Amino acid sequence: MTSTSTTYFVGARSERPWWRDAVTYQIYPRSYADANGDGKGDIEGIRSRLPYLKKLGIDAIWISPWYPSPQKDHGYDVSDYMDIEPDYGTLEDAKRFIDEAHALGIKVIADIVPNHSSDQHEWFQEALKSPPGSPARARYIFREGKGENGELPPNNWEGIFGGPAWERITEADGKPGQWYLHLFAVEQPDFDWKNPEVHEYFEKVLRFWLDLGIDGFRIDVAHGMIKAEGLPDVTEEVELLGTQLMPFWDQDGVHDIYRHWRKIFDSYPGDRMAVAEAWAPTPARIARYVRPDELANSFNFTFLDSLWNVDALKKAIDGSIEELHKVGAPASWVFNNHDVTRSVMRFAQGLKGGGVSTPQERYGDIAKFDAELGVKRARAGALLMLALPGGAYIYQGEELGLPEVYDIPKDRLTDPRYKLSGYKDTGRDGCRVPIPWTVSDKGSHGFSTNLSLGRSDSWLPEPTWWGNYAAEKQENDENSTLNIYRRALAARKELSMLGDGTMEWIEAGADVLAFSRTDQATGKRFACYVNFGAPIAIPTGEVILASSPPTGDVLPSDTTIWLHI
Ligand code: NOJ
Repeated sequence: MTSTSTTYFVGARSERPWWRDAVTYQIYPRSYADANGDGKGDIEGIRSRLPYLKKLGIDAIWISPWYPSPQKDHGYDVSDYMDIEPDYGTLEDAKRFIDEAHALGIKVIADIVPNHSSDQHEWFQEALKSPPGSPARARYIFREGKGENGELPPNNWEGIFGGPAWERITEADGKPGQWYLHLFAVEQPDFDWKNPEVHEYFEKVLRFWLDLGIDGFRIDVAHGMIKAEGLPDVTEEVELLGTQLMPFWDQDGVHDIYRHWRKIFDSYPGDRMAVAEAWAPTPARIARYVRPDELANSFNFTFLDSLWNVDALKKAIDGSIEELHKVGAPASWVFNNHDVTRSVMRFAQGLKGGGVSTPQERYGDIAKFDAELGVKRARAGALLMLALPGGAYIYQGEELGLPEVYDIPKDRLTDPRYKLSGYKDTGRDGCRVPIPWTVSDKGSHGFSTNLSLGRSDSWLPEPTWWGNYAAEKQENDENSTLNIYRRALAARKELSMLGDGTMEWIEAGADVLAFSRTDQATGKRFACYVNFGAPIAIPTGEVILASSPPTGDVLPSDTTIWLHI
């Protein structure tokens, strides 16, 4: 046995902040549950599913943006940071939801979008009406164009969804004028974080939600708020969500913002926190976001980006744990979110998570897609993730083993990426299809209370086979993906050595990823074996749980087992 990896260990679970161990469930509000029958999800719908979430056994919910928004990027274009999107409900609904979640012992994390606003935000509208050089323009990144008449963009930055990252405006006199920066869609102008007014505004926004009872924030594009001095041209090609060091990614200045925000969180009771969406290029760069005076968690995108491969995953785990150990932070494992192809498809098709921009990169060769194999691997991956030291983030529908919907009719695609890529990339809608709650397709498989809606009537259409994955169908099947997740989350609560803490690799052959976890107080040991290769004999120990039923004494390929050893 080799002992290679450790994490920072902070006392017993009850003595450390909740976010060192938590399993957080991401909800994409538009797609979760529709209580008012309009074919779009809403807060009342989410509230109606709290008993389901309690039974699942998660510790916290992260809700993707629920603010008023023209929905050009489904809420990541915010027009008012201190209110609720009317399609989703009201502030009172949000408050009731937060309070009821708390009563069930579930924390609530809001999504904050500080890199850019919607072009319909009152500040941007004011900027458009104000002259160049005015204080209103200084809240965003306006520049004169290059070329004889300012007809060329100020630099060569490309937008993450495709096309130039600059848009030229028409000035009050009707003439073409300045350009503004938008790293994402044209309707998402970037704030200028060198302007103290922007800092003050977001401090107010954070306090608004903290006062309402929010336990933390997921920070959108956490690596993007500060741009390099002078906005220099880039020379490399930009990937989706950016993983390279670029003049607009991962600049040192972002950390000053988080040091200040941490003080705000710490001024509230109850371990308020934030998790960074920082697509930084290495585990070492990701770890900088969770230094002791900065944020609590930073998504482990190195892990998410790994192929379903023993060596790739081991390398990602070792690299992350080593770097996080140096700063004393827990890991935040994640395989799925609303931006990436679902793990069921990725793992079956040998695909990576981030940086994809063509249907081939998103889905691979669809003719070869084996959904059953994908579900088997995704379940094995889930038990790996939930046994590793630290916390984990799961994405709605992951607990049902939902595959990616790769064939949404083109005229129903809504992701801005589709249009901005010149219709080359079908985008991220395939992982955002409404959740199937019931087998019958009435009310879009139980997504909507409006029973006159069918499976293609909600905001994104559901495929004919959607009901096969419905929560209702999985409820009483002991071996369903849903029940495997439930048992795993229950075991995590019960077994004190899981969650934050240390791990030791176990040598178990080239195709097996195996490690143990030890309870520091009692010396009791737990082991997790992930078999990527041919079937092996079940290791010695008392079986707690397996991702697929073992056959006799044999652990099949693409299967994870948890044991007391
Ligand atoms: C990252 C979010 O996860 C993604 O959905 C969004 O499009 C971009 N940030 C822009 O806000």
